[in-house]
Amino acid sequence: MELRAKRIIVAGGGTGIGFAAAERLLDGGAEKIILASRNEEKLKQAKEKLKSDKVYICPFDISQCGSHEQFFKDVDEITGDTADGLVIASGLNFDGGNWKGFNISESDWDRIMDTNLKGVFFLIRNFANRLHSMNRKGNICVVSSISAHRDLLSVYQISKNAISGIVHAYGKHLCERGIVLNCVEPGTTEGGMLGGLEKYTDGIRPGEPWNDNSIRRVIRPEEIAEVIYFLMTNAGEIMSGSCVLAGGGCKSISR
Ligand SMILES: NC(=O)c1ccc[n+]([C@@H]2O[C@H](COP(=O)([O-])OP(=O)(O)OC[C@H]3O[C@@H](n4cnc5c(N)ncnc54)[C@H](OP(=O)(O)O)[C@@H]3O)[C@@H](O)[C@H]2O)c1
Repeated sequence: MELRAKRIIVAGGGTGIGFAAAERLLDGGAEKIILASRNEEKLKQAKEKLKSDKVYICPFDISQCGSHEQFFKDVDEITGDTADGLVIASGLNFDGGNWKGFNISESDWDRIMDTNLKGVFFLIRNFANRLHSMNRKGNICVVSSISAHRDLLSVYQISKNAISGIVHAYGKHLCERGIVLNCVEPGTTEGGMLGGLEKYTDGIRPGEPWNDNSIRRVIRPEEIAEVIYFLMTNAGEIMSGSCVLAGGGCKSISR
Protein backbone atom coordinates (compact mmCIF):
# COMPACT_ATOMS: atom_id res chain seq x y z
CA MET A 1 0.00 0.00 0.00
CA GLU A 2 1.24 3.48 -0.71
CA LEU A 3 -0.21 6.94 -0.54
CA ARG A 4 -2.14 7.75 -3.71
CA ALA A 5 -1.99 11.45 -2.89
CA LYS A 6 1.35 12.78 -1.67
CA ARG A 7 0.82 16.51 -1.05
CA ILE A 8 -1.99 16.62 1.41
CA ILE A 9 -3.98 19.43 3.00
CA VAL A 10 -5.29 18.52 6.44
CA ALA A 11 -8.12 20.88 7.40
CA GLY A 12 -8.36 20.85 11.19
CA GLY A 13 -4.82 19.39 11.24
CA GLY A 14 -3.64 21.40 14.24
CA THR A 15 -5.39 19.29 16.86
CA GLY A 16 -7.09 15.98 17.69
CA ILE A 17 -7.89 13.55 14.88
CA GLY A 18 -6.55 15.90 12.20
CA PHE A 19 -3.19 16.19 13.93
CA ALA A 20 -2.95 12.41 14.34
CA ALA A 21 -3.80 12.03 10.64
CA ALA A 22 -1.07 14.49 9.66
CA GLU A 23 1.43 12.54 11.75
CA ARG A 24 0.40 9.21 10.19
CA LEU A 25 0.45 10.56 6.63
CA LEU A 26 3.95 11.96 7.17
CA ASP A 27 5.07 8.65 8.59
CA GLY A 28 3.49 6.90 5.60
CA GLY A 29 5.40 8.84 2.95
CA ALA A 30 3.59 12.14 2.38
CA GLU A 31 5.85 14.60 0.58
CA LYS A 32 4.08 17.68 1.90
CA ILE A 33 1.50 18.20 4.60
CA ILE A 34 -0.38 21.47 4.86
CA LEU A 35 -2.06 22.05 8.22
CA ALA A 36 -5.02 24.40 7.84
CA SER A 37 -7.52 25.89 10.29
CA ARG A 38 -8.52 29.26 11.72
CA ASN A 39 -6.06 29.62 14.59
CA GLU A 40 -2.56 30.27 13.28
CA GLU A 41 -0.97 29.86 16.71
CA LYS A 42 -2.38 26.33 17.05
CA LEU A 43 -1.08 25.49 13.59
CA LYS A 44 2.39 26.75 14.47
CA GLN A 45 2.45 24.63 17.62
CA ALA A 46 1.35 21.56 15.65
CA LYS A 47 4.05 22.14 13.05
CA GLU A 48 6.64 22.37 15.81
CA LYS A 49 5.43 19.11 17.34
CA LEU A 50 5.66 17.31 14.00
CA LYS A 51 9.32 18.33 13.63
CA SER A 52 9.42 17.96 9.86
CA ASP A 53 10.39 20.28 7.04
CA LYS A 54 7.63 18.64 5.00
CA VAL A 55 5.01 20.43 7.11
CA TYR A 56 3.50 23.79 6.09
CA ILE A 57 0.74 25.84 7.66
CA CYS A 58 -1.95 27.87 5.95
CA PRO A 59 -4.67 29.51 8.09
CA PHE A 60 -8.20 29.46 6.66
CA ASP A 61 -11.83 29.31 7.66
CA ILE A 62 -13.69 26.49 5.91
CA SER A 63 -17.03 28.19 6.49
CA GLN A 64 -15.97 31.13 4.27
CA CYS A 65 -16.58 29.36 0.98
CA GLY A 66 -15.74 32.43 -1.07
CA SER A 67 -12.17 32.27 0.26
CA HIS A 68 -11.48 28.66 -0.78
CA GLU A 69 -9.99 29.55 -4.18
CA GLN A 70 -7.58 31.99 -2.56
CA PHE A 71 -6.75 29.36 0.07
CA PHE A 72 -5.74 26.85 -2.63
CA LYS A 73 -3.65 29.54 -4.34
CA ASP A 74 -1.96 30.31 -1.00
CA VAL A 75 -1.18 26.61 -0.55
CA ASP A 76 0.36 26.49 -4.06
CA GLU A 77 2.47 29.50 -3.25
CA ILE A 78 3.60 28.35 0.20
CA THR A 79 4.51 24.83 -0.92
CA GLY A 80 5.53 25.57 -4.51
CA ASP A 81 3.23 22.75 -5.55
CA THR A 82 -0.43 21.79 -5.97
CA ALA A 83 -2.01 19.56 -3.35
CA ASP A 84 -3.49 16.28 -4.59
CA GLY A 85 -4.88 15.11 -1.24
CA LEU A 86 -7.41 16.61 1.15
CA VAL A 87 -8.32 15.39 4.63
CA ILE A 88 -11.17 17.34 6.21
CA ALA A 89 -11.01 16.87 9.96
CA SER A 90 -12.32 20.32 10.85
CA GLY A 91 -15.58 20.51 12.74
CA LEU A 92 -17.54 22.10 15.55
CA ASN A 93 -20.08 20.96 18.08
CA PHE A 94 -21.70 22.77 20.97
CA ASP A 95 -19.47 22.92 24.02
CA GLY A 96 -18.73 19.20 24.26
CA GLY A 97 -21.84 17.19 24.98
CA ASN A 98 -24.21 20.11 25.40
CA TRP A 99 -26.71 19.08 22.76
CA LYS A 100 -29.17 21.90 22.26
CA GLY A 101 -31.87 20.02 20.44
CA PHE A 102 -34.86 22.04 19.34
CA ASN A 103 -33.76 25.05 21.40
CA ILE A 104 -31.00 25.87 18.98
CA SER A 105 -30.88 29.47 17.78
CA GLU A 106 -30.81 30.27 14.09
CA SER A 107 -27.31 31.71 14.43
CA ASP A 108 -26.02 28.53 16.11
CA TRP A 109 -27.62 26.44 13.36
CA ASP A 110 -25.79 28.58 10.76
CA ARG A 111 -22.48 28.38 12.64
CA ILE A 112 -22.57 24.58 12.81
CA MET A 113 -23.94 24.03 9.34
CA ASP A 114 -21.58 26.53 7.67
CA THR A 115 -18.58 24.80 9.26
CA ASN A 116 -19.58 21.13 9.30
CA LEU A 117 -21.64 20.93 6.13
CA LYS A 118 -21.65 23.85 3.71
CA GLY A 119 -17.93 24.55 4.13
CA VAL A 120 -17.10 20.85 3.73
CA PHE A 121 -19.27 20.43 0.63
CA PHE A 122 -17.76 23.45 -1.12
CA LEU A 123 -14.20 22.59 -0.11
CA ILE A 124 -14.66 19.12 -1.64
CA ARG A 125 -16.32 20.63 -4.73
CA ASN A 126 -13.70 23.35 -5.20
CA PHE A 127 -10.77 20.97 -4.62
CA ALA A 128 -12.18 18.35 -7.00
CA ASN A 129 -13.00 20.90 -9.72
CA ARG A 130 -9.49 22.30 -9.42
CA LEU A 131 -7.87 18.88 -9.82
CA HIS A 132 -10.21 18.08 -12.68
CA SER A 133 -9.32 21.29 -14.53
CA MET A 134 -5.63 20.33 -14.22
CA ASN A 135 -6.36 16.78 -15.37
CA ARG A 136 -5.00 15.42 -12.09
CA LYS A 137 -6.06 12.65 -9.76
CA GLY A 138 -6.51 12.96 -6.02
CA ASN A 139 -7.88 11.62 -2.77
CA ILE A 140 -10.30 13.19 -0.32
CA CYS A 141 -11.17 11.81 3.11
CA VAL A 142 -13.70 13.54 5.35
CA VAL A 143 -14.10 12.92 9.06
CA SER A 144 -17.83 12.43 9.59
CA SER A 145 -19.05 10.77 12.81
CA ILE A 146 -20.91 7.83 14.26
CA SER A 147 -23.42 10.56 15.12
CA ALA A 148 -24.57 10.24 11.50
CA HIS A 149 -26.43 7.12 12.71
CA ARG A 150 -27.68 8.33 16.08
CA ASP A 151 -30.71 10.07 17.57
CA LEU A 152 -29.12 12.75 19.70
CA LEU A 153 -31.49 15.66 19.13
CA SER A 154 -28.58 17.58 17.74
CA VAL A 155 -27.78 19.76 14.77
CA TYR A 156 -24.22 18.40 14.89
CA GLN A 157 -25.74 15.02 14.12
CA ILE A 158 -27.72 16.39 11.17
CA SER A 159 -24.54 17.93 9.76
CA LYS A 160 -22.61 14.65 10.06
CA ASN A 161 -25.46 12.63 8.57
CA ALA A 162 -25.37 14.95 5.57
CA ILE A 163 -21.59 14.57 5.24
CA SER A 164 -21.96 10.82 4.94
CA GLY A 165 -24.73 11.57 2.42
CA ILE A 166 -22.38 13.72 0.32
CA VAL A 167 -19.91 10.84 0.13
CA HIS A 168 -22.65 8.46 -1.04
CA ALA A 169 -24.03 11.00 -3.50
CA TYR A 170 -20.76 12.13 -5.11
CA GLY A 171 -18.32 9.24 -4.57
CA LYS A 172 -19.15 7.43 -7.80
CA HIS A 173 -19.18 10.60 -9.92
CA LEU A 174 -15.79 11.72 -8.59
CA CYS A 175 -14.25 8.26 -8.84
CA GLU A 176 -15.04 8.24 -12.57
CA ARG A 177 -12.95 11.42 -12.78
CA GLY A 178 -9.98 9.98 -10.87
CA ILE A 179 -10.85 11.51 -7.52
CA VAL A 180 -11.33 9.17 -4.58
CA LEU A 181 -13.83 10.42 -2.00
CA ASN A 182 -14.47 8.54 1.25
CA CYS A 183 -15.24 9.31 4.86
CA VAL A 184 -14.59 7.79 8.25
CA GLU A 185 -17.28 7.84 10.96
CA PRO A 186 -15.49 7.70 14.32
CA GLY A 187 -17.12 6.80 17.60
CA THR A 188 -16.10 8.62 20.78
CA THR A 189 -12.44 9.49 20.30
CA GLU A 190 -10.04 10.86 22.89
CA GLY A 191 -8.64 14.40 22.60
CA GLY A 192 -9.81 17.22 20.38
CA MET A 193 -13.41 18.17 21.04
CA LEU A 194 -13.67 15.38 23.61
CA GLY A 195 -10.65 15.92 25.84
CA GLY A 196 -10.04 14.34 29.23
CA LEU A 197 -10.99 10.79 28.21
CA GLU A 198 -7.46 9.40 28.05
CA LYS A 199 -7.96 7.11 31.04
CA TYR A 200 -10.70 5.31 29.12
CA THR A 201 -8.50 4.38 26.14
CA ASP A 202 -6.54 1.52 27.67
CA GLY A 203 -8.84 -1.43 27.14
CA ILE A 204 -11.82 -2.93 28.95
CA ARG A 205 -12.03 -1.48 32.44
CA PRO A 206 -13.85 -3.77 34.87
CA GLY A 207 -14.27 -1.04 37.48
CA GLU A 208 -14.98 1.85 35.20
CA PRO A 209 -15.81 0.63 31.69
CA TRP A 210 -16.57 3.08 28.92
CA ASN A 211 -20.12 2.21 28.01
CA ASP A 212 -21.04 3.77 24.67
CA ASN A 213 -19.51 1.04 22.50
CA SER A 214 -18.72 -2.68 22.41
CA ILE A 215 -14.97 -2.46 22.94
CA ARG A 216 -15.70 -0.71 26.25
CA ARG A 217 -13.01 1.88 25.74
CA VAL A 218 -12.59 5.24 24.08
CA ILE A 219 -10.95 5.21 20.64
CA ARG A 220 -7.52 6.83 20.25
CA PRO A 221 -7.01 9.50 17.56
CA GLU A 222 -4.13 7.42 16.19
CA GLU A 223 -6.57 4.59 15.49
CA ILE A 224 -8.81 6.87 13.41
CA ALA A 225 -5.67 8.22 11.71
CA GLU A 226 -4.88 4.67 10.59
CA VAL A 227 -8.26 4.46 8.81
CA ILE A 228 -7.69 7.86 7.21
CA TYR A 229 -4.24 6.76 6.04
CA PHE A 230 -5.72 3.63 4.48
CA LEU A 231 -8.35 5.67 2.62
CA MET A 232 -5.62 7.99 1.25
CA THR A 233 -3.60 5.08 -0.18
CA ASN A 234 -4.11 3.27 -3.46
CA ALA A 235 -6.26 0.81 -1.49
CA GLY A 236 -8.64 3.70 -0.80
CA GLU A 237 -9.48 3.74 -4.51
CA ILE A 238 -11.53 0.56 -4.36
CA MET A 239 -13.41 1.98 -1.38
CA SER A 240 -14.54 5.08 -3.34
CA GLY A 241 -17.83 6.47 -2.07
CA SER A 242 -17.61 4.61 1.25
CA CYS A 243 -18.39 5.73 4.77
CA VAL A 244 -16.19 3.65 7.03
CA LEU A 245 -17.73 3.27 10.46
CA ALA A 246 -15.10 3.16 13.22
CA GLY A 247 -17.42 3.02 16.18
CA GLY A 248 -15.81 0.38 18.37
CA GLY A 249 -18.32 -2.31 17.48
CA CYS A 250 -21.42 -0.14 17.51
CA LYS A 251 -23.40 1.35 14.72
CA SER A 252 -25.29 3.45 17.19
CA ILE A 253 -24.84 4.39 20.81
CA SER A 254 -25.40 1.41 23.14
CA ARG A 255 -25.79 3.34 26.37
N1 LIG B 1 -13.58 13.41 19.09
C1 LIG B 1 -14.62 12.62 18.78
O1 LIG B 1 -15.13 11.83 19.61
C2 LIG B 1 -15.19 12.63 17.40
C3 LIG B 1 -16.07 11.60 17.04
C4 LIG B 1 -16.63 11.59 15.76
C5 LIG B 1 -16.27 12.58 14.86
N2 LIG B 1 -15.43 13.58 15.23
C6 LIG B 1 -15.09 14.59 14.21
O2 LIG B 1 -13.70 14.59 14.02
C7 LIG B 1 -13.28 15.86 13.57
C8 LIG B 1 -12.10 16.30 14.44
O3 LIG B 1 -12.59 16.46 15.77
P1 LIG B 1 -11.62 16.40 17.05
O4 LIG B 1 -12.31 15.61 18.09
O5 LIG B 1 -10.25 16.04 16.63
O6 LIG B 1 -11.75 17.91 17.55
P2 LIG B 1 -10.82 19.19 17.42
O7 LIG B 1 -9.45 18.91 17.89
O8 LIG B 1 -11.59 20.29 18.05
O9 LIG B 1 -10.73 19.42 15.85
C9 LIG B 1 -11.52 20.28 15.14
C10 LIG B 1 -10.61 21.16 14.30
O10 LIG B 1 -11.45 21.92 13.44
C11 LIG B 1 -10.85 23.19 13.28
N3 LIG B 1 -11.93 24.11 12.90
C12 LIG B 1 -13.06 24.41 13.57
N4 LIG B 1 -13.77 25.32 12.89
C13 LIG B 1 -13.09 25.58 11.74
C14 LIG B 1 -13.30 26.44 10.65
N5 LIG B 1 -14.39 27.24 10.57
N6 LIG B 1 -12.40 26.47 9.64
C15 LIG B 1 -11.30 25.69 9.69
N7 LIG B 1 -11.03 24.85 10.71
C16 LIG B 1 -11.91 24.80 11.72
C17 LIG B 1 -10.26 23.53 14.65
O11 LIG B 1 -9.15 24.41 14.55
P3 LIG B 1 -9.29 26.02 14.70
O12 LIG B 1 -9.96 26.29 16.00
O13 LIG B 1 -7.87 26.49 14.60
O14 LIG B 1 -10.09 26.49 13.52
C18 LIG B 1 -9.79 22.14 15.11
O15 LIG B 1 -8.42 21.94 14.77
C19 LIG B 1 -14.50 16.77 13.66
O16 LIG B 1 -15.10 16.89 12.39
C20 LIG B 1 -15.43 16.01 14.59
O17 LIG B 1 -16.78 16.34 14.33
C21 LIG B 1 -14.87 13.63 16.47
